[in-house]
Amino acid sequence: MQLFLDGSDIDKIRKYSDFGVIDGVTTNPSIILKSGKNMIEVISELASVVSGSVSAEVSALDSEKMVREGMKLSEIAKNVTVKLPITWDGLRACNTLSKKGISVNMTLCFSSSQALLAAKAGAEYVSPFIGRLDDLNLEGIDLISDIKLIYSHYKFSTKILAASIRTTNHVKQCARLGADVATIPLDVFEKLIKHPLTESGLNQFTADWEKTGQSII
Ligand code: G3P
Repeated sequence: MQLFLDGSDIDKIRKYSDFGVIDGVTTNPSIILKSGKNMIEVISELASVVSGSVSAEVSALDSEKMVREGMKLSEIAKNVTVKLPITWDGLRACNTLSKKGISVNMTLCFSSSQALLAAKAGAEYVSPFIGRLDDLNLEGIDLISDIKLIYSHYKFSTKILAASIRTTNHVKQCARLGADVATIPLDVFEKLIKHPLTESGLNQFTADWEKTGQSII
């Protein structure tokens, strides 16, 4: 499973990208607003730090302007993926942009039928928002399972990019179900490595090693 970071904190993204564990980044208009920076500058910086896909979302609601915005965003860097909302205009723009060889991420996906249409329109990625479904007491993770089953039947090449991830358990569930990508907020990502038994076990090993009086180098 590829791991993307969902955000724009360039310093932390650079740090974890250097570890070799980050495969891409996703942003959206709310993330850009929170950054307080110019979108083009944010995307350009992110695309220079990670070699994988960097999603940049259009602002337009009509397909013609979506295409124009998408083409401008794709010119920022070769690894920019254009994010489009799953609407009829978004699907039409996806079809146009994907035929031009531009990577598209169809976002704000909340149903299997939307994901089916995204695949038919040639999207490279589809972003089911599992956390927002959970917020409505619906089982967001079931959407991942349903899309995976549908895509496997018809061998769609569109990649399932699990989004709106709120917990480390979401990441585990997505990996168990075979999502192609999980895009993870930094606060959740930084919890992935933590386990109290690892911490206590390492403390014990360190204390016992010190008692040996030995050194390796
Ligand atoms: O990439 C989509 C993600 O940023 C949405 O997350 O928590 O706003 O539902 P959230």
